[in-house]
Amino acid sequence: MINKVKVNIPNNDKKSYYIHIGPSADGSLSYTAADIAKRFPRSKCFIITDTNVEKLYAREFNKLIAGQGIASEIISFPYGEKSKTRKTKEYIENQLIKSGANRNSVIIALGGGVVGDIAGFVAATLFRGVPFIQIPTTLLAQVDSSVGGKVGVNHPLGKNLIGAFYQPDAVYIDVSTLTTLSDAEYRNGLAEVVKYGAALDIKLFELLARNADKILSRDTKLLKNIIERCCELKAEVVNKDEKEKSYRRILNFGHTIGHAVEKLSHYKIPHGAAVSIGMVAEAEMAFRLKILDRKSVVKLKMLLTHLGLPIDLPKNYSVPDYVKATQTDKKAVEDKILYTLIDKIGSGVIDVPLTSDDVEALLISRNYSAKFRL
Ligand code: NAD
Ligand code: GLY
Repeated sequence: MINKVKVNIPNNDKKSYYIHIGPSADGSLSYTAADIAKRFPRSKCFIITDTNVEKLYAREFNKLIAGQGIASEIISFPYGEKSKTRKTKEYIENQLIKSGANRNSVIIALGGGVVGDIAGFVAATLFRGVPFIQIPTTLLAQVDSSVGGKVGVNHPLGKNLIGAFYQPDAVYIDVSTLTTLSDAEYRNGLAEVVKYGAALDIKLFELLARNADKILSRDTKLLKNIIERCCELKAEVVNKDEKEKSYRRILNFGHTIGHAVEKLSHYKIPHGAAVSIGMVAEAEMAFRLKILDRKSVVKLKMLLTHLGLPIDLPKNYSVPDYVKATQTDKKAVEDKILYTLIDKIGSGVIDVPLTSDDVEALLISRNYSAKFRL
């Protein structure tokens, strides 16, 4: 069965859209192809994907779209974060224009967050905006990046520095695509799932804690419920603050220190692992600030550990290294960084202003706290 979650865009119902969550009995990619054909009967589809997902799903999906009598073509680029560049965007644009794309053409992102972010940015700027569909195939993309309209590419000086807010016309999630994901990529997505529980929904957090083993065995039925809940939570946040003027920053819990960890490791530590470490560091900072109780910090560490995620700041960098690496954070205001912390499990607090000295002191006291070890 396909479940649907609506993303209501404030003051612009024409931009509101549905997230369709499968699997469905007759195959979700068939359902998706039929639904797209119904919506865009006279448009040509361009399936943007990476070299891994091309082999796994895009060729089959291209045939399903053709089977609906719709012209369709695959544009693929090498997999991985290193491809999330202006150069790849230019390559895709060149292919689209050479292949006769026009304002009615539909850009379909089929893949993980890298594919979704680049394809969405292409869709936002090609002819000043063309229809855009997200078909996320990683857990991270299904619970986070495919929903909410943040699209963009990296710059050598930082991640996601060039981009736009451009909402998709629909998102189609097939949870069964997660069976082909590597353990490392799967865990990456789990960190974002824990973030939703920790910052927004204690019931989700408790469900995760009760079912950690089943989650690790990728039980499709349970995953479908969890992914649907994460999509509902993200939809609520986007509805309150589409352009991240304030409340959307609730989704940044764990991300300020997390981004510093990613950056210092030259992106060798993947995003999810870095966010896991970041959530623990920021929860411990919240404890030191007397915002959060110790039991909640321990619960967070136990859940992340159970899910196979790291919780300790890598020791090969010093506290001042971490503090310095947070300073180019997009959330910086004058000399302060606005942190998103939690004050209990399921309750995030945005815009906690902290200076570099504050953060250094908090991280140092964290490092010397033997009592915190699990
Ligand atoms: P990714 O797109 O690089 O995918 C990870 C790997 O999994 C790739 O090698 C890909 O080819 C492979 N893959 C994808 N689907 C697969 C499947 N079903 N089976 C087997 N392999 C598969 O990385 P990601 O973790 O999905 O996304 C990370 C990106 O998302 C980052 O660039 C990050 O900045 C971005 N992001 C964006 C937002 C947003 O709101 N736009 C939010 C969070 C993260
Ligand atoms: N990934 C955070 C956001 O979409 O705002």
